[in-house]
Amino acid sequence: PVLVVDYGAQYAQLIARRVREAKVYSEVVPHTTPVADLLARNPRAVILSGGPSSVYAEGAPELDPALLEAGVPVMGLCYGFQAMVQALGGSVAHTGRGEYGSTPATVTDTGSTLFDGVPEHQSVWMSHGDSVTEAPPGMKVTATSDGAPVAAVEDDERRLYGVQWHPEVLHTAHGQRTLENFLHKGAGIPADWTPANVVDELVDRVRAQVGEDRVLCALSGGVDSSVAAALVQRAVGDQLTCVFVDHGLLREGEAEQVEEDFVAATGVDLVVVDAREQFLAALAGVSDPEEKRKIIGAQFIRVFEQAARDVVSDRGDEEHPVKWLVQGTLYPDVVESGGGEGAANIKSHHNVGGLPDDLQFGLVEPLRALFKDEVRAVGLELGVPEAIVWRQPFPGPGLGIRIVGEVTGERLDVLRRADAIARAELTAAGLDREIWQCPVVLLADVRSVGVQGDGRTYGHPVVLRPVSSEDAMTADWTRVPYETLAKISTRITNEVREVNRVVLDVTSKPPGTIEWE
Ligand code: XMP
Repeated sequence: PVLVVDYGAQYAQLIARRVREAKVYSEVVPHTTPVADLLARNPRAVILSGGPSSVYAEGAPELDPALLEAGVPVMGLCYGFQAMVQALGGSVAHTGRGEYGSTPATVTDTGSTLFDGVPEHQSVWMSHGDSVTEAPPGMKVTATSDGAPVAAVEDDERRLYGVQWHPEVLHTAHGQRTLENFLHKGAGIPADWTPANVVDELVDRVRAQVGEDRVLCALSGGVDSSVAAALVQRAVGDQLTCVFVDHGLLREGEAEQVEEDFVAATGVDLVVVDAREQFLAALAGVSDPEEKRKIIGAQFIRVFEQAARDVVSDRGDEEHPVKWLVQGTLYPDVVESGGGEGAANIKSHHNVGGLPDDLQFGLVEPLRALFKDEVRAVGLELGVPEAIVWRQPFPGPGLGIRIVGEVTGERLDVLRRADAIARAELTAAGLDREIWQCPVVLLADVRSVGVQGDGRTYGHPVVLRPVSSEDAMTADWTRVPYETLAKISTRITNEVREVNRVVLDVTSKPPGTIEWE
């Protein structure tokens, strides 16, 4: 891999993503990793990230010069650049001329490796208080800016490179080109991290891990579990059994999509458990959101455990018992929980609808090295239906937390019909990629007066909650065109008799959350 050494920047994951966009596999490692351990991983190259410290500050993370003498290509960015310069005998000083934000930089050596194909004058994203005032002996200065007389250096012989700015952020117009020049020209790494190669590699790994054992997967219909299942199926075929729990809190067409389209596309062995009655009975009389989540989570576990036992007795012969459980853990979860090899510590509310941790299975996590966009690319490569690959996030507790009030069969039916209309119209308006997700919420305990045809109505409102987001941690309400909103409103009030009002949620997150419960 290309190892991105994280000096405490919020940028390290982003750098890893950019490297992967250059079709080169990369991973983030903490800066506390000893050089011997870094080298033991046979890195094709190392990138040193930015970080909040000054290289002079007490306790500032250090760069062991041994890394720069190992013959591995290294590129330093921002703090990593300064740490590299210092380790190689150049000078870093507090000049009082820090630069923050978009800054003009001048490439002084347009024939250099890093700046091949990059214009002489470019706008780059800077964020530094200290500056490099003198390049290390033997290194060529290739760019400057007002506040950074030495803004980039390179040494093709030792294959060491550095830039003061952040090439990984989009504000640096030619940043991706600069990174690609380092990877492909400086370090000589081919662009071989393609979806087809990724699939081959992951399939091999799953085969090696699982052997002849049987594997179980809880399929939710979401992107991650679907792609994980498709991959394991590609690897070990009918040693895999998927369990899909239909808890009745799904949206229109979702269960069918998994039961028909997904199975047809991937050939997985699927067990569908119809647990709709059981969930409804457990939820009867409950309107507190946290209570609902707990009940749904607990029911899910109970149903899944029973299904797992059934699979063992039906399909797991004595010689090949079920030993493994597939989970759709992704790389950001792995990095956030320390990057270790253990099970990822997924945020607790994402365990709702997830699985208990005392199941007696080992974990198969075929996606734990991938970012979300790579999961989608792998899914498409495996032939997973586009409707699943591009599905927007949907919470484990499903429509159960989109009915404010008690969850009943009739209310679910009303919400499902309203939601289907909203989704269809947003899709027709071409807004699917712009919108992160659009919960439709039924205010089941609220009634208001309306008039329809000749008569007075006394129905319920539904709320449209379209949001735009990068990661669901923060979100803004999406400015859906009025015409689209009008169409949704007209259709819902006409076609769903119980609903006589459609309202729009115009709250960002924070202070609102995306879901209403
Ligand atoms: P909130 O409402 O916290 O939602 O702003 C953030 C994201 O998480 C999803 N979400 C859940 N996902 N189980 C899940 O698997 C849950 O209990 C749950 N609650 C919220 C929500 O849809 C949004 O994408």
